[in-house]
Amino acid sequence: MDMTVKERIDELRQQLNYHNHKYYVENAPEISDYGFDMMMHELQRLEEEHPEYDDPNSPTKRVGSDRTVDFKTVAHRFPMLSLGNTYSLDELHEFIDRIEKEIGQTEFVCELKFDGTAISLTYENGRLTQAVTRGDGTYGDDVTANVRTIRAIPLVLQGNDYPAMFEIRGEILMPYASFDKLNTEREANGEPLFANPRNAAAGTLKQQSSAVVAKRGLDCTLYQLAGDNLPFDSHWDNINKAREWGFKISEYMRICHTVDEIDEYIRYWDEGRKHLPFPTDGVVIKVNRYADQRALGFTAKAPRWAVAYKFKAEQALTTLLSVDFQVGRTGAITPVANLEPVLLAGTTVKRATLHNAEQIAQLDIRIGDKVYVEKGGEIIPKITGVELSERPADSKPFEFITACPVCGTPLVRYEGEAKHYCPNQNHCRPQILGRIIHFIRRKAMDIEGLGEETVELLFESGLIRNIADLYDLKASQLAVLPRLGDKSAENIIRSIEESKRVPFQRVLFALGIRFVGETTAKYLAAHFRSLDAVMNASPEELIQAEEIGPKIAESIIDYFADEGNRTIIERLRQAGLQFEAETRELRSEVLSGKNFVISGVFENHSRDQLKEMIEAHGGKNLAAVSANVDYIIAGRNMGPAKLQKAQKLGIRLISETEFEEMISGDNTTESTSEQQPTADENINNNVPRQGELF
Ligand code: IVH
Repeated sequence: MDMTVKERIDELRQQLNYHNHKYYVENAPEISDYGFDMMMHELQRLEEEHPEYDDPNSPTKRVGSDRTVDFKTVAHRFPMLSLGNTYSLDELHEFIDRIEKEIGQTEFVCELKFDGTAISLTYENGRLTQAVTRGDGTYGDDVTANVRTIRAIPLVLQGNDYPAMFEIRGEILMPYASFDKLNTEREANGEPLFANPRNAAAGTLKQQSSAVVAKRGLDCTLYQLAGDNLPFDSHWDNINKAREWGFKISEYMRICHTVDEIDEYIRYWDEGRKHLPFPTDGVVIKVNRYADQRALGFTAKAPRWAVAYKFKAEQALTTLLSVDFQVGRTGAITPVANLEPVLLAGTTVKRATLHNAEQIAQLDIRIGDKVYVEKGGEIIPKITGVELSERPADSKPFEFITACPVCGTPLVRYEGEAKHYCPNQNHCRPQILGRIIHFIRRKAMDIEGLGEETVELLFESGLIRNIADLYDLKASQLAVLPRLGDKSAENIIRSIEESKRVPFQRVLFALGIRFVGETTAKYLAAHFRSLDAVMNASPEELIQAEEIGPKIAESIIDYFADEGNRTIIERLRQAGLQFEAETRELRSEVLSGKNFVISGVFENHSRDQLKEMIEAHGGKNLAAVSANVDYIIAGRNMGPAKLQKAQKLGIRLISETEFEEMISGDNTTESTSEQQPTADENINNNVPRQGELF
């Protein structure tokens, strides 16, 4: 049966939310920008046609957030909006027609759309004072210390004709050369690779250590000025002036007067960008004069005077030579295509992922076919289609393997799972090695000095067969192995010893239970507090924990039902690993018996930090406003409904500063009602009024 419109809307929202999280929160996209944008466009269209399904929480209503808890959160003086985008020249022409109808013939500036991560720099009296990421557009992370290490960014300006205070915005980029070097190093160290230069730039900018940032070879191109006293009244004149102050400004900007000139610029750069040393993903077209920009104004999330035309991902056509099958640590089988080498987006491609049997069948991919390969957000390119007109006459449908390519065990399919699995967990080499390698990872037990190669060496020498064997190793056994020696043997033993202090939630993740990733492990640890409690929980009890559904619950039950796994767990317990969550240390009891609700966005702390602070001082966090609540810590953008309810129930609103005072031990300044945020402040949503930006 066909899907109803409502079902399709729900499906798109759910998928967009999922991919948004992958992209903005995890920095690990699974689909290409093009695929994401197509889904977003379809959802926008359906929502426009069916206003009855409007939802304030729809992915179309928000700009993604890249905020983390580790950096100070600061408010943008001018919000950092996003740009409307299109892949269609027709839509771009409509955009230009609309503008010319509204304000008459005007000048456009065409520039490249740099594919990195946005940054806003503040300069006061010619010196860099603050660098903030885009965040949610209203609040971002203060990454000044990291940004100071980027050599393309001037710390002190040249000349003396710059405004006393202004902001300049641009893109922090990782050039291909830095990206390749970084991933080569990470591969050698057994660290996970960055999927693309954009993720590498964003990930680097949020490094805790600015020394690490300094080594990563980041670059920065600036493309927009904001401030009250800019020298000229057009984008072009100001941005060119900024070059004189020492900023890196693109050499590839052009002023265009007609649609033909804009088309020509796009055509040129669709090909020309392939020869640039840094990544770009489109062209940005901006109205040049500020007076015109002001007249056109803004929508809620983007200016009406600019648009991004995005290039389609590059494709190449090549021959599928053969298919290999890789076996992962969970036994999952991944088919990998071997291709006739072909040049694609600056690198030679020889392999591509094929996901699973269903995808192969759906595209009817056959050995010997000419196939289209595309680079999306992933490290390994993927096959997106077959050129049927070039199919050899004698080609045969592809047959998926039925037995494990390594150990020969017949493969199985689990209900609702697209992948095939080798069920021979305990005797299939890549599964055994994969589990040990997962166990020692930085985010798991973090056993330094043990890389993939050393694990293989220990396995080949018969010293380890499972994760518990690691804790029986002796330095004398390691020192005699090739490439090791006394010093590295001792280092390995020391870090194995140190891993016994790794907190419970990471131990739980390290076990490698199917579907129990880092976040799930955190939720399980927080809910059950000990491994014994997780092991003894029934499926019904497991799904009581946050984010745990029946599928994960079943996988946990299966894991602990296995005799072999239980033996390993007992040996790890004997070795002294942390099987219990640490008891939270109470810093004081000043909030004992008090219930809090946190609402809105804050200047100094993230919401999670505030929650932790409440608990550390003996208070309790509640999710909803009710008569049980003693205080609401109110930040900016607190929802009006919450505010009303709080007023009705007479609940005390306190600001972040008042809360800080409450727990600082200095409670002498009992705050007065004037110090409490007013309803007005709370619902000020910081969106610029027309013309306010410049
Ligand atoms: S102007 C108010 N110019 O694209 C709009 N943005 O989708 C200000 N970007 O967040 C942005 N190259 O990170 C502008 N030449 C360029 C750009 C550019 C890349 C990024 C920027 C922005 C995103 C919007």
